[in-house]
Amino acid sequence: MQRIDQLLASLGYGSRREVRDWIEGGRVQAGGVAARDPSTRVDPSQVLVDGEPLDHPGELLVMLHKPAGRVCSHDPGEGPSVYGLLPERWQRRNPPVASVGRLDKETTGLLLLTDRSALVHRLTSPKHKVAKVYRATLDRDLPAGIEEVFAGGACLLEGETTPCAPATLRRIGPREAEVTLTEGRYHQVRRMFASQGCGVTDLHRSRLGHLELGDLPVGCWRELPINTFDTK
Ligand code: URA
Repeated sequence: MQRIDQLLASLGYGSRREVRDWIEGGRVQAGGVAARDPSTRVDPSQVLVDGEPLDHPGELLVMLHKPAGRVCSHDPGEGPSVYGLLPERWQRRNPPVASVGRLDKETTGLLLLTDRSALVHRLTSPKHKVAKVYRATLDRDLPAGIEEVFAGGACLLEGETTPCAPATLRRIGPREAEVTLTEGRYHQVRRMFASQGCGVTDLHRSRLGHLELGDLPVGCWRELPINTFDTK
């Protein structure tokens, strides 16, 4: 049971001041009666605002098809963000909705967003070896033997002293490859190819763990059950 003003503010309905005004004005019901005292403790499933059940009172997990040109940052100074593609109310939630790892501004594809911080930690920890599949287009032909370099666990990124964990590279065309990683270092795919003298002109993530992006349109999201990764 949570205080009703805290509950509504944490779900992004408004500031504490705003939601108190709604509560005192009789717009909020709990268990079928107007709850006019902001300190009332309530069961979120019993609360109505303007006659409507609460917007996702539990935790959220969303799969987004990230478009190019959006950053995975809450800092407005960094430019348009992936969070701007979500409903405004979700953007005001606290704990905040955060991305599970980051994709670069120009990288497209599968991005998970959640307010369950334990899930972010689990899916991004190298210990758990969650597979991430990327399709990369290069500015030159794939060098001979690059599969072995990536698979051998000896690929060293500029400025780092620990080589990358073994990664799988599958050739799709002369300048196109699918790469599967189990780590998520900063700009890792671009830097792995850079270590072999190749620039990446396009990068797209198609899979994370057992989840495929499928035919989700660019810029769109869909909700996933919060327990999606619980047994995986
Ligand atoms: N590797 C990169 O270089 N960029 C991404 O966005 C993801 C993985």
